[in-house]
Amino acid sequence: MRKAVCPGSFDPITNGHLDVIERASGLFDEVTIAVLVNSSKSGLFTIEERIKMAKDASTHLPNVKVDTWSGLLVDYCKSHDIRAIVKGLRAVSDFDYELQMAQMNLQLKGVDTLLMATKPAYSFLSSSLVREIARYGGDVSALVPTGVLNALQEKAGGK
Ligand code: PNS
Repeated sequence: MRKAVCPGSFDPITNGHLDVIERASGLFDEVTIAVLVNSSKSGLFTIEERIKMAKDASTHLPNVKVDTWSGLLVDYCKSHDIRAIVKGLRAVSDFDYELQMAQMNLQLKGVDTLLMATKPAYSFLSSSLVREIARYGGDVSALVPTGVLNALQEKAGGK
């Protein structure tokens, strides 16, 4: 079985993430959305909230599941017999960081990374911008799944 992981902070999952996940699900037998703790980023949503939003947004993809992990991504891959990491590449500005992580993950445990070009329509999209726009009441309805939109509105209302 060909398995891949789509890792990220997913704080929250966006339509750009989903585009990559959907396309990866057509290339692999099983794709895991791995909600990882990124120690260099502070979060808006709890890990449990992120998992729920990712699950709700991917119910239409039968070979996609959602999991979480707080250690090294390569250790998750090894313990689940996953040989490929799939990540979206929005623009050249993503490249240096993604290449560095891809090469480190290859060096650490021999896990390959496939960088998938995002649709141009999503090249400007990031979770951090979504959080900021939503915080100030901007319209992000075209950028995130419905469940995320509702969750952002609840967070904004609860301030
Ligand atoms: O969505 P993000 O924050 O850009 O995703 C980055 C993420 C979570 C994929 C990366 O920080 C990661 O893999 N974290 C897990 C810990 C790890 O393996 N670190 C070494 C990376 S070479």
